[in-house]
Amino acid sequence: MSFKKIIITGANGMLGIAISNALVNHQLFRFTSKELDITCTHQFHKKVAQIKPDYIINCAAYTAVDLAETEQEKAFKINAIAVEKIAQIAKQYNATLIHFSTDYVFQGDANQPYTVDHDTDPINVYGASKLAGEKAITQIAGNHYIFRISWLYAPYGKNFFKWVATTDQSQLNVVNTQIGSPTSAIDVASFMKHVILNEPKQYGLYHFTNYGAISWYDFAVMINKKLELGKEINPIDIFKTAAKRPAYSVMDCSVTQNIFDYKIPSVEKGFDKVVALHQ
Ligand SMILES: NC(=O)c1ccc[n+]([C@@H]2O[C@H](COP(=O)([O-])OP(=O)(O)OC[C@H]3O[C@@H](n4cnc5c(N)ncnc54)[C@H](OP(=O)(O)O)[C@@H]3O)[C@@H](O)[C@H]2O)c1
Repeated sequence: MSFKKIIITGANGMLGIAISNALVNHQLFRFTSKELDITCTHQFHKKVAQIKPDYIINCAAYTAVDLAETEQEKAFKINAIAVEKIAQIAKQYNATLIHFSTDYVFQGDANQPYTVDHDTDPINVYGASKLAGEKAITQIAGNHYIFRISWLYAPYGKNFFKWVATTDQSQLNVVNTQIGSPTSAIDVASFMKHVILNEPKQYGLYHFTNYGAISWYDFAVMINKKLELGKEINPIDIFKTAAKRPAYSVMDCSVTQNIFDYKIPSVEKGFDKVVALHQ
């Protein structure tokens, strides 16, 4: 195995932690938001010039989906403008950029899994900011992989799994009208390890989620049962949020499986691994 020099931004976020753990055998340069603000182009450029990384894995993002409705400028500054600069710098230093996007780039009203080339139509401001980031990277056309992921969770960080597992509430009302693919950050991270080891050099945009389609309600029931929480989980039709959420945002990952020669684990398998690490 050849060791790579890898910059990880947003290293203390949910995905940043998972990817850092999965890539320990490489030479990692991990930066939290305090250590490296991706909106500070000068600072970012300096780090890349010093380190000369093989890869830049951008786990930094503005992820406050509801707040983005009123903080549009901030969301675009981090998810689009900074990402454009990162892509330019990565190209200048011949580093491969790995970046993550979201199922929210779609309207979420389909009735079959979204393919990568399906027309985009962001459902909310956060989705629009992430789509602008995708487009900037694609246009700059350096060596890059963009992975659209969805419903991310892990045994750490702020996510739905942690909320159900740790809330004091004995009754939870959870929407059963939104269908998607809960995706383990640990499985995304294992896949990143595979990507770096087996570089197919087929740069571009891909989908990566655990395989399967369930509602948030189904997911809550799954967590409740597995962790023996004994909560009452009630299905509801509507959960009012500032930003719209998709009714159906399952993504087709078959191209990813073929190009990277990788079998993506099911929602259930991904879930079992997260449960095993949960404490
Ligand atoms: N979570 C999901 O369900 C989900 C779904 C689809 C796609 N994604 C995408 O997956 C990626 C990882 O998301 P995540 O769930 O790991 O998010 P997260 O836990 O919110 O982590 C994002 C990290 O980015 C950092 N950050 C924010 N602004 C920054 C800046 N200006 N400079 C440097 N770092 C900055 C944050 O630091 P602070 O906390 O200090 O601000 C945080 O550590 C993102 O691209 C996200 O859009 C996530």
